[in-house]
Amino acid sequence: MDFSLSDEHEALVRMVHDFATREVKPIAAELDRDHRFPAELVARMAELGLMGIEVPPELDGSGLDPVAYVLAMEEVSTACASTGVIMSVNNSLVCDPLMKFGTAEQKERWLRPLAAGEKLGCFQLSEPNAGSDAAAQKTRAVRDGDDFVINGVKNWITNGPQADTGILMAMTEPELGHKGITAFIIDMHAEGVSRGPKDDKLGIRASHSCQIFYTDHRVPADQVLGEVGGGFKVAMSTLDCGRIGIAAQALGIARAAFEAATEYACDRQTFGKRIADHQAISFMLADMAVEIDAARLLTLRAAALKAGGARHSKESAMAKLYASEVANKVAKNAIQIFGGNGYVTEYPVERHFRDAKITEIYEGTSEIQRLVIANSVLSRR
Ligand code: CAA
Repeated sequence: MDFSLSDEHEALVRMVHDFATREVKPIAAELDRDHRFPAELVARMAELGLMGIEVPPELDGSGLDPVAYVLAMEEVSTACASTGVIMSVNNSLVCDPLMKFGTAEQKERWLRPLAAGEKLGCFQLSEPNAGSDAAAQKTRAVRDGDDFVINGVKNWITNGPQADTGILMAMTEPELGHKGITAFIIDMHAEGVSRGPKDDKLGIRASHSCQIFYTDHRVPADQVLGEVGGGFKVAMSTLDCGRIGIAAQALGIARAAFEAATEYACDRQTFGKRIADHQAISFMLADMAVEIDAARLLTLRAAALKAGGARHSKESAMAKLYASEVANKVAKNAIQIFGGNGYVTEYPVERHFRDAKITEIYEGTSEIQRLVIANSVLSRR
């Protein structure tokens, strides 16, 4: 088993680390404070090929593999978790299903501009009454000639306020339960699509989310993604990929908190020595180092499985569950190491603490990840 990165991966990490350190990290606190969407950083990520990392170059993507995606996500999220999730949603919740389920025409029309970063995407599954129970969709799509007419509401849609293109799950045949859900590609600027005000959130404040309202929105049948009635599987397999991205985001948050805590512990003196030389603090740092590494290995394993084409639902859920819990624990202990200084906005760790929480909630709560893992573990017993 070879744990070293390829030359291509090393070069990518260097490039993204440089971008994240020089351009993202210096403005992360300001973006958070002002709840400002970093349009300029999204434009730079497009230039650097980070908005369609796994999309083939023929479709204006970077043609890299899922491991490259994880490495890039960790670097960006270490600097700014909000910027990380904007990138993650476009890559794994929008480009990925278009690559996997889209027709050649759909890829040309919808995927190419998303991969190039000329357009931004969002993924619309959650509803006011369909969060963890994703099959309980109420948004209706009714066939009318060559079109579908869509009515309903979607909730917590990351990139919703800015998105040009959406992947929407809607119920076409409610009597069939999850087999009655269909995925659609949505032009977010079309008639009958409107957006609510942006959500006022605890963390990842520079990444905006909102409700999306559908009022008699007409979609031609050639905007069905995959099969009519195949939408639940589109959503679930998309989330298998998305969860790898959120695991990498959590990893980035944990690393940022760990790096800040280590630096502070080596600087701050109490009782005549650096606090890093008190065992209570050094053991905390040791645990952080172990847990971050373990989370990284789980995340890279899920990405490697995806690269090999194997089903990776369980491994993605394990990576997301563990990495998100590590991010929360590391950020909490980083505040403890900073003491009072950790509790104020002058230092970055309170932001890492607030940013970490969402990783245990979106793209499936920790409880849903445990359900997916338990179902897999128990499936043959
Ligand atoms: N890949 C392919 N097919 C899958 C699948 C997967 N990963 N998971 C399930 N399926 C299939 C099953 O095989 C089954 O197919 P058959 O009927 O043909 O046998 C079908 O889907 C139904 O499966 P389940 O009975 O397991 O479905 P369920 O209704 O019990 O739900 C669940 C399963 C795991 C709880 C699912 O509802 C779930 O993942 N919920 C959480 C939803 C979620 O993550 N939401 C996040 C919203 S997105 C977001 O946060 C984006 C953002 O803005 C950042």
